[in-house]
Amino acid sequence: MRPATRVAGEGLSPIRRMSLDAPADAVDLGLGEPGWGAPDAGTRTAVPAPSLSYGPNTSDPALVRAVAGYASSPTHDVAPEQVMVTAGSQAALFALFQAWVEPGSTVLVPDPGFVAYPTLARLCGATPVGYPLGADGDLDADALVALLGEQPHTSLVVLNHPANPTGGLASERALSRVAEACAERGVLLVSDEVYAELWVDRRPVSLRDVSAEGVVLGSMSKAFAAPGLRIGWALGDPEVLAPARLLHNAMTTAPSRLSQAAALALLGAAEEVLPAAREELRVRWATVDRVAPHLHTSGHRFLGDGHQKAMFRTATRAGFYLWLALPGHLAGAAYADPVGTEAFALQLRDEGRVTTIPGTAFGPGGAGCLRVSLGGPVDELEEGLRRLAPWWKA
Ligand SMILES: Cc1ncc(COP(=O)(O)O)c(C=O)c1O
Repeated sequence: MRPATRVAGEGLSPIRRMSLDAPADAVDLGLGEPGWGAPDAGTRTAVPAPSLSYGPNTSDPALVRAVAGYASSPTHDVAPEQVMVTAGSQAALFALFQAWVEPGSTVLVPDPGFVAYPTLARLCGATPVGYPLGADGDLDADALVALLGEQPHTSLVVLNHPANPTGGLASERALSRVAEACAERGVLLVSDEVYAELWVDRRPVSLRDVSAEGVVLGSMSKAFAAPGLRIGWALGDPEVLAPARLLHNAMTTAPSRLSQAAALALLGAAEEVLPAAREELRVRWATVDRVAPHLHTSGHRFLGDGHQKAMFRTATRAGFYLWLALPGHLAGAAYADPVGTEAFALQLRDEGRVTTIPGTAFGPGGAGCLRVSLGGPVDELEEGLRRLAPWWKA
């Protein structure tokens, strides 16, 4: 027996691989998961016996209403029929891709970007094509719209902001430009905003602030610090969600009822949980500034044409990833390419005893960079940064 060809080329995520073979005493700054513990509101949930039934395919109506209320803002209302609750936003992505991506079509994904997007496109028999990001990893609408023009068979475009792995954001102007371009061409736009509530200075712009087009994704996994619940959602036109709901039902029937109950409790406590999560985040970014401020300023990104660019992330901080350019004193070395980037990450892990993720795990556009997760416990972050710091000093 042989597995279907659509899965033949897929393997373990490079993120998991970096942690798996790490020395036992390595500090893990690899995995992108909040380390400040699930809020009380989620763990105290009392689950009455009747909620152990299957429940509706479309999940508990009270949870759907709660997500709609949570996602509504003074500028736009979200109605319950515009909400699809899923087994994590990952299942929303899977269902949307399966429902809207034709085999043989093209899916535009950020490069560097979240590792699941190209895999999900390939599982649909489509070709993922990376679009470049602007300085600091922000959305570059001109580059994306130009690529859209060159790829007439595009079925879906994914945006991610605040971005994994770069922390990049999207301006109102960039979002409306991309939304318009997708609408004109009949291309589904998916705006992955799972890190939206994790901001330090200023709330990031949502696609919904500028457009009613496309689908917006949210999750309990990041700011609500409850990734193990596996609850996320997609917000969009009911007609766009309808075929994705069929896919999601075929895959999971419905999300776990226990998780739905906990998610409902967490959403009810959002006014306490979210500011507390942002405080956890602020402490972590302050830890970087205190322990290793030079990491921001002494990295250089190799551009592959013999040039290099100093990386200096001045933009608004959001999400919990530090996107680090490799140390400037490695200039001219073979570190610019994917092999060099991975070799440096392995050296940091095996000699420096700190696990980071090589930027190339997120696409060829990540060469010359590393992703450092600030999400974990502060003492581990502090120790990991102390171990990283000397490598950025020539
Ligand atoms: C950008 C992005 N989107 C989606 C997900 C999936 O999150 P979940 O399925 O836990 O909601 C992740 C998880 O790391 C992510 O980084």
